[in-house]
Amino acid sequence: MANPLILAIDQGTSSTKALLVDENGHVVSRAVAPVTEAQPRPGWVEQSAEELWQSVRQAVAVCVNPALADRVAGVGFSNQRESLVLWERRTGEPLGPLLSWQDQRTAARCHELAATGAAELVRAVTGMPLDPMFSALKARWLLDAYDPDRRRSRAGQLCLGTVDSWLLSRFGGEHVIEVGNASRTQLLDIGTRQWDSRLLELFGVPLEVLPRVVPSCGAFPAVRDLAPLPDGVPVLAVMGDSHAAMFAHAGWRPGVVKATYGTGSSVMAIGDGGRTTGLCRSIAWDIDAPMMCVEGNIRATGRTIAWLSELLGVPAEILLAEAEDADPGGVHFVPAFGGLGAPWWDPDATPVVTGLTLGTRRAELVAAALEAVAFQIEDVVAAADEAVGHVRVLMADGGLTRSTRLMRLQADLSGRVVARSGEHDLSALGVADATGLAAKLWTLDQLEQRPRPADRFEPTLDETERAARKHAWHAAVRRSRPPD
Ligand code: G3P
Repeated sequence: MANPLILAIDQGTSSTKALLVDENGHVVSRAVAPVTEAQPRPGWVEQSAEELWQSVRQAVAVCVNPALADRVAGVGFSNQRESLVLWERRTGEPLGPLLSWQDQRTAARCHELAATGAAELVRAVTGMPLDPMFSALKARWLLDAYDPDRRRSRAGQLCLGTVDSWLLSRFGGEHVIEVGNASRTQLLDIGTRQWDSRLLELFGVPLEVLPRVVPSCGAFPAVRDLAPLPDGVPVLAVMGDSHAAMFAHAGWRPGVVKATYGTGSSVMAIGDGGRTTGLCRSIAWDIDAPMMCVEGNIRATGRTIAWLSELLGVPAEILLAEAEDADPGGVHFVPAFGGLGAPWWDPDATPVVTGLTLGTRRAELVAAALEAVAFQIEDVVAAADEAVGHVRVLMADGGLTRSTRLMRLQADLSGRVVARSGEHDLSALGVADATGLAAKLWTLDQLEQRPRPADRFEPTLDETERAARKHAWHAAVRRSRPPD
């Protein structure tokens, strides 16, 4: 094909992005379609699976000029992970909502299971702590609601899937899931890359309702009903969004550690990580061979700023601009919405704001929220230090990195160099890289040489001051957690 193009689609929590990339890796066009979420009860976070699919169609329709559609040699998907949906195999109709990765409705169930001593098996087999963020307890909730006796699941009439699995099902063909996404369900043995029968039993999930696990490149159903693309364009790569962002940083090179500042945040490094406790071990991707990674997930980073923006009725951009030079003035904000993720993994922690005075203004509150983002990231990077060796440079990407204040804070509070990616949409770019690799448009060596612009922030805070500020932050974190 002359002048081939790659179409990369990133289906995230707040929007779907589409990028058209040429054979030199340059972005030719981009489009975004927003998606909504609902919180019908405290702690519950739902999305509509149908809306996610329609947002993919919208983003593609805007991104791809019909005159270019025939040049698209392959499609790649990156996606929000852990979120789960149940649908009818025959009609493709979803049964109920998609339960978001942020959803905490299974927290009580999680406690009950932990009390039985199950956490150890779960950690050993899946590399993750027992936590409502992962898909397994969501699977149980959906099946209890829509197939309580599991009869329809066992008869093969229902399908469970993560967002990749759901979007691919729209194209017809087999019910499949990409291995990196599967490794975030808490039902997969990350060593054998097979569904684990002990975990299926523990979480009450029949094997017949689960998709077939496939590698990150190849073996996906080809597109259908994705205008203006002709039916039959191959899907060549699928990756979890965080994994795709790691790939875009050429993260297969030793020592690369990245932080994605999204709705929540993910700090990731390639490596096995042994029995690291505060971090998860997952499969980053399987391209020729499976790559393991360690990762710490933080529930609320960008979400914290979005929450403040909703609460105060002021656009996030304005809040961030106001906080550019503000000092939190002794205020600490621990945004434990839905509990704390890595490295604490405490679903019972609650949000707290400490150090308020009558003189506290909103810029200080926003500055404290930004500090909380940086401190939370640093707590995870410090855990990564233990798992993969001292982290000197942190690669930063994601929407919130546009706050220069945050990047400076991150360097200062971490005592590490922060390299802010000059690219937007790293997840989509990463899966575009993998798709082009599968289409043989470029090689891994060429990807490694491809310059990706970044600006660097050096730490300026002295060690004593940094230690004192970390100490004050950790005191606030303790106040957010219930006493033992
Ligand atoms: O683990 C959840 C993560 O994949 C969601 O990412 O970018 O949609 O907030 P994002």
